[in-house]
Amino acid sequence: MLVVMSGLPGVGKSSIAAGLGRRLGAPVLSVDPVEAAMWRAGVARDQPTGLAAYVVVETLAAEILALGQAVIVDAVNDVAQAREMWHDLAGRRGVALRFVQVVCPDPGLHRRRLESRERGIDGFPEPTWASVEARRANFDAWDGERLMLDSLAPIDANVQRAVDHLTRDSARRESPAGMWERGMAP
Ligand SMILES: Nc1ncnc2c1ncn2[C@@H]1O[C@H](COP(=O)(O)OP(=O)(O)OP(=O)(O)O)[C@@H](O)[C@H]1O
Ligand SMILES: [Mg+2]
Repeated sequence: MLVVMSGLPGVGKSSIAAGLGRRLGAPVLSVDPVEAAMWRAGVARDQPTGLAAYVVVETLAAEILALGQAVIVDAVNDVAQAREMWHDLAGRRGVALRFVQVVCPDPGLHRRRLESRERGIDGFPEPTWASVEARRANFDAWDGERLMLDSLAPIDANVQRAVDHLTRDSARRESPAGMWERGMAP
């Protein structure tokens, strides 16, 4: 199974993905540390390192899926083309694709979480609230099926919800209708 996180910076994707990875015994591939690694290696920041990081993560995810293992991709995935890339990968590998979108309906809390966290990704500046708002405004419309998680809920509760959905869904894959919430536009 290919699990793909989505949501604005600071909304709680990586925190939930980490818990999910532990519960599923699946690796989590995050895009931001890959981009930071490119910069540390000397690739110029005016190069398309954002896109390159997605492509590197896609390559690694493909390798893991080829071993028959599940993998969790952790990225904003605000661009429709990026989401299409995961559809293509799952199709090529013949595995189920499950999107998990994290939202935080309280902008004040979202901002406080964003501004108070310390990811410690060497060489990677933390996004500003203004950049998050700009991304929100440009988040490509999305009506595909995905599990929506509200990060007002505790991390553990959302991890449990994701595990429940993923395991229930794989047990009843023949009739998935209605098991996945049709998401709202962000
Ligand atoms: N209930 C919660 N769910 C998710 N995150 C929470 C929650 N409560 C507090 N946080 C905190 O919110 C912060 C932001 O979460 P996180 O770093 O997982 O966001 P992200 O979506 O991965 O952002 P980015 O796209 O920038 O990597 C973290 O410091 C996390 O510990
Ligand atoms: Mg993250």
